[in-house]
Amino acid sequence: MKKIIKFVAYFVGSLLLAFVGLLAYVALRGIPSYTPEPVNLKVEITPERVAHGAKLSSVLCGVCHGNDKNILAGKLLVDIPKEFGTIYAANITQHPQTGIGKWTDGEIARLLRTGVRPDGQYIPNYMPKFVNMSDEDLASIIAYLRSDLPAVQAYDLKQTQSTPSFLVKLLCNFVMKPNPMPQQPIIQPDTTDIVRLGRYLVAGRYDCYPCHSADFTKINEVEPEKSLGYLGGGNMLYNLEGKEMYTANITMDEETGIGTWTEEEFVNTLRYGKRKDGTLLKYPMLPYPVMTETEAKAIFAYLKTVPKIKNQVKKNL
Ligand code: HEC
Ligand code: HEC
Repeated sequence: MKKIIKFVAYFVGSLLLAFVGLLAYVALRGIPSYTPEPVNLKVEITPERVAHGAKLSSVLCGVCHGNDKNILAGKLLVDIPKEFGTIYAANITQHPQTGIGKWTDGEIARLLRTGVRPDGQYIPNYMPKFVNMSDEDLASIIAYLRSDLPAVQAYDLKQTQSTPSFLVKLLCNFVMKPNPMPQQPIIQPDTTDIVRLGRYLVAGRYDCYPCHSADFTKINEVEPEKSLGYLGGGNMLYNLEGKEMYTANITMDEETGIGTWTEEEFVNTLRYGKRKDGTLLKYPMLPYPVMTETEAKAIFAYLKTVPKIKNQVKKNL
């Protein structure tokens, strides 16, 4: 009997020791760095690209990076779940020291696709990555960041460093990894294949799926459809008052998703933020005024092809 107790004590003791060792390792190592892949890119700045990039940035970057004057100087992100830590979006204006004025086009493209900064540091999932964005959309965003529009002019503000939580460090050591750079050109689908265009908008350009799947830590950025509970909702964010907000199930399940919505109802909700019962979409779901009617219809057509998920999400009151 004594022997068994002794054995169990040793066993539990060594497990504990291993566990403490793991915790210490993660705490000391923090978020790992990577050797950045070389990226050769020089974006030609054209008025069309700048205008398109400004549109994309207004719905893709401004929410996090825009300050109260809509300058992309960064801020504290209050809607990120607290278990991820205290997170500040960076200053991405053209300031050479406090912004990204010295980054090359390739360095910006690499960060947006893979999550790796020029110094090798990896940005976890609290900044979305745009792995499947078309080369043209990406070039437009870069052209916009380089443009002479007011939101991106050098703004001298050293943004506060984020303090990611232990959970984020743990995930970055074992689960979250940088995405590889795409090996092939990514060409934007056109309106001849409306479902492919819709898929592109959801999973490549507008990035609907990280919010609308089950869990930010179980997102597959390279193959979005493999994210846990793809588009079935239930993921949790906060509103600006710190209240929990659950994302909607946008699969076509009739009971728990949007299976009974008409195309027109969907398009109006998405573009103008008004649901068919007259209620407004609540933050952090913002309407997409820059989206064309064709794009919104393409998204609807695509959602009809996505496997339905039965998931009754808590109503946001
Ligand atoms: C959900 C919020 C969010 C969105 C949306 C977002 N970012 Fe970020 N971004 C962040 C955070 C947070 C950081 C800083 C991460 C850190 O502190 O490790 C960051 C960092 C960056 C950096 C690195 C800056 C530096 O000095 O290291 C660049 C460049 C950048 N973002 C560009 C963009 C662009 C361009 C878009 C739109 C296409 C965008 N981000 C969308 C949250 C966001
Ligand atoms: C930042 C996270 C986020 C992003 C990005 C996002 N959504 Fe949402 N979405 C939400 C949340 C949260 C709700 C619930 C809002 C509410 O209760 O009013 C929601 C609600 C919706 C609804 C209403 C569903 C219903 O049953 O009322 C639709 C439709 C929708 N989103 C579609 C989209 C599409 C399409 C995209 C991409 C173009 C997108 N969302 C991007 C978070 C997000």
